[in-house]
Amino acid sequence: MSNLPNSIPQPAWWQLLSWIADPLGFQDTYRQKYGDIFTMHLSGLGAFVLIGDPKMIQEIFNQDAKQFDIGRGNKIAEPLVGRYALMMMEGDRHRRERKLLMPPFHGERLQIYSQQICQLTKQVASQWQVGQPFIARTSMQKISLAVIMQIVFGLSEGKRYQQLSTLLADWLDMIDSPLRSSMLLMPFLQKDLGEWSPWGRMKQRQRQIHELLLIEIAERRALGDRGQTDVLSLLMAARDEQGQAMTDEELRDELMFMLFAGHETTATTLAWAFYQIHRIADVREKLLGELDSLGESPNLMEVVQLPYLSAVCQETLRMYPVIPTLFARITKSPIAITGHQFDADTYLMPSIHLVHNREDLYPEPKQFRPERFLERQYSPSEYIPFGGGSRRCLGYALAQLEIKLVLATVLANYQLALVEDRPIKPQRRGFTLSPAGGVQMVMTRKNE
Ligand code: HEM
Repeated sequence: MSNLPNSIPQPAWWQLLSWIADPLGFQDTYRQKYGDIFTMHLSGLGAFVLIGDPKMIQEIFNQDAKQFDIGRGNKIAEPLVGRYALMMMEGDRHRRERKLLMPPFHGERLQIYSQQICQLTKQVASQWQVGQPFIARTSMQKISLAVIMQIVFGLSEGKRYQQLSTLLADWLDMIDSPLRSSMLLMPFLQKDLGEWSPWGRMKQRQRQIHELLLIEIAERRALGDRGQTDVLSLLMAARDEQGQAMTDEELRDELMFMLFAGHETTATTLAWAFYQIHRIADVREKLLGELDSLGESPNLMEVVQLPYLSAVCQETLRMYPVIPTLFARITKSPIAITGHQFDADTYLMPSIHLVHNREDLYPEPKQFRPERFLERQYSPSEYIPFGGGSRRCLGYALAQLEIKLVLATVLANYQLALVEDRPIKPQRRGFTLSPAGGVQMVMTRKNE
């Protein structure tokens, strides 16, 4: 194959297994050997050029979106999120739908959610009992799912939402280990052999979720446009260039993806934040001191602007990328990027992990040190937890708001501790990476 830099020579099946088992260790190994750019070959999936050089990534972000295909590179996620999810789209359709979906996730609309995020956090935390261990990630998932349900449907209560939450959490737990995740990355394992086969169970759960979503869509259609501003209402009111509305199947896939992308990632990041805050006493004390400085019942907009809280959030996202790389940018024609010549149809994959672990940008990168974000500014290609360019994460503002408000609410009202004082490693959970075991914690006191 031509123009693929630093091809890893090991057999493609071996590379695939290593990528599934430990995508971060895999990248560390080959960065040591090849530096900032190398090509992995994954059996059945193809060749991917991994990139850890911010200059090159900046050039990719700056290119006209028309230079790359991106949606078709995400095809592997189709069995999970469906054919009509935003991440699968290309070109004008992608641009149009992104524009449509932007308002509920930005600006003033976000402020409206702030109060709800704090209330939902207190609701979930009220179930913790002094001395009884709980899994931080599971609690965080309850909060983030309720928040995204509110944004997507305008509601997070009632029987259907309860059913939907339970099914979604259950469904995603089915891929919470490298072994179980392998079904997603090895399409030949995707055999629906009924209830007793892992893929069959996944598919059955997914059908149940689809059914609930379709019932919700039908009810909304019957009710008609009532001027609501939730994501479903916006999608239902949208018309394409020919004046066509979205079909039920299109709406269903879009909802499924928003629910999935909008809560898994945030829950995982929060679990990591709790882990580090309770592992390093100094970080916790600084955070508590900063929160205290705002006095009783602080203004929530002041809370989200606190510098140390923001730095803790940034450092968590730096150290624990929820996905190991950005979406692949597939070249549509031959292209030169920072002196590298690539053929058409090359899969370029900017790597969050490679960039965030550069010694020149982040000295001692394996240390959790929020102060680094107070000491210097990073450019949009030196710090990429939410990607960039035409595909930058749609929910980046919501995610950061939510992480800060949940942390502040919990720290101000509850005293927690880690159940075990041992290092926790990232582990594959489908396409994402999550703390192994979900971080066991215990409440030691509730502040009066
Ligand atoms: C800590 C939380 C989150 C992290 C770390 C995260 C990270 C990412 C990353 C890395 C991408 C790919 C960007 C690229 O390739 O340039 C992405 C895409 C996306 N994210 Fe997030 N995300 C988070 C939360 C959310 C939330 C709350 C939503 C809300 C719905 C969301 C919706 C999306 C969507 C719709 C896309 C696809 C964008 C497109 O294809 O145009 N994410 N996210």
